[in-house]
Amino acid sequence: MDKFLEYIKNKNLTIDDEKLADKLDELDELSSMKNEFHFPATKDVASDASKVKVEDLEKPVIYLTGNSLGLQPKEIEKQLSNYLNDWKKYGVEGHHHGEHPFLHIDEEIQESLSKIVGSLPSEVCPMNSLSTNIHVLMANFYKPTQTRHKIIIEYGAFPSDLYVTESQIRHHKFNPETSLIKIKPRDGEYTLRTDDIIKVIREHGDSVSVVMLSGIQYFTGQFFEIEKITKVGQEVGAIVGWDLAHAAGNVQLSLHDWNVDFACWCSYKYLNSGPGCIAGVFVHNKHTQIFDLTNDSRLLGWFGNKLSNRFQKEKEFYAEDGALGFRMSNPSVADCTALRASLSVFEKAGGIKKLAEKSTVITGYLEYLLTHKLKTTDVQIITPSDSTQRGSQLSLLIKGIKAGELKVNLSNAGVICDVRDPDVIRVAPTPLYTSFNDVKNFIQKLNDNM
Ligand SMILES: Cc1ncc(COP(=O)(O)O)c(C=O)c1O
Repeated sequence: MDKFLEYIKNKNLTIDDEKLADKLDELDELSSMKNEFHFPATKDVASDASKVKVEDLEKPVIYLTGNSLGLQPKEIEKQLSNYLNDWKKYGVEGHHHGEHPFLHIDEEIQESLSKIVGSLPSEVCPMNSLSTNIHVLMANFYKPTQTRHKIIIEYGAFPSDLYVTESQIRHHKFNPETSLIKIKPRDGEYTLRTDDIIKVIREHGDSVSVVMLSGIQYFTGQFFEIEKITKVGQEVGAIVGWDLAHAAGNVQLSLHDWNVDFACWCSYKYLNSGPGCIAGVFVHNKHTQIFDLTNDSRLLGWFGNKLSNRFQKEKEFYAEDGALGFRMSNPSVADCTALRASLSVFEKAGGIKKLAEKSTVITGYLEYLLTHKLKTTDVQIITPSDSTQRGSQLSLLIKGIKAGELKVNLSNAGVICDVRDPDVIRVAPTPLYTSFNDVKNFIQKLNDNM
């Protein structure tokens, strides 16, 4: 909120101005980006359309769920249609013909993906889906020994991250009871203090093989201090990796400079490329400069092989440079096309830095209204108030009414948000397609329904 108040002051606006949302929208250089997206109509997503006011039935919803599934960029349909035409026109020759030859479809995206996560283009690659990629990277980086076998995650990690790490430990014949360390918030707190994370890493010291936390915690919206934590993990001799499902496309990242060992993310949340679309990986180039097949535990498949060897009869494997060498299968061209299209919207907006700046202001505005303009005291924000410790998601602990019931009522009032059992709703005013008036109207609807 501090940054929001600073912004207001710098723009000579006053906080109690009735027209504040209008003025903020006028100042918003990204306001036209909304037109790049398809919005569901209220009648189509209301839990009970009979409860929607007639004049609101066709209205686009206020969509606060970009943290779960981003809206569809209009550009995707166009690009997918071009891809279908190329496939129709060229068949297998489409691997070499057309504007976007299938053979290099993923390589084409490396540059724009690298801008999203702050890396060299060669350090990133779209591939597989997120949980699969955590396994793929663990196969390379988790090499437990009798003395160094622990994986550290956060206590409230996303279920898949828990299952992946547990199964990796079992796969190597260790026991999650003794090899999986889960960092808990202090009693009465929801988020983790960096000092506590560091303390746990240091306590387990040279028994830690891998530290793998989420960049932004899916439940609380907390943005961890990636650089600091990575450094401490590496000081005890561990590999440090990050699940960036809720961070990619949401906050500014500098994975290369922060010396992160590995990271992975999905592309259907803030990256808006469509449900289950191809995910991404980052492997720091310090790990891929030398490839020695006899001493490498990565999982191999033909698409990780150098193009010069890939189609040869001799079947010699020599990994492609950088992240490309972690591929196993040929990528879905439809998926890569959707991702390329959705990333082009980020470029059109001026990049992640600009989006993150708006995100700080609009999320601060939402926080201000939640703390100053709600009639009820039954809403508690559990996301950190410090804007450097969060992205665009605020998690709201709801009392007095069931969170699930509130979500249903809000959907009938034209607001889409999501619920995390038992009592939290998550709202994310994603900067690409949320206006300041959307935020203001959401607060009004929340007031009407609490
Ligand atoms: C933090 C986190 N990790 C892992 C996953 C699993 O993703 P996928 O189903 O694409 O493997 C999700 C999905 O929402 C997530 O939020």
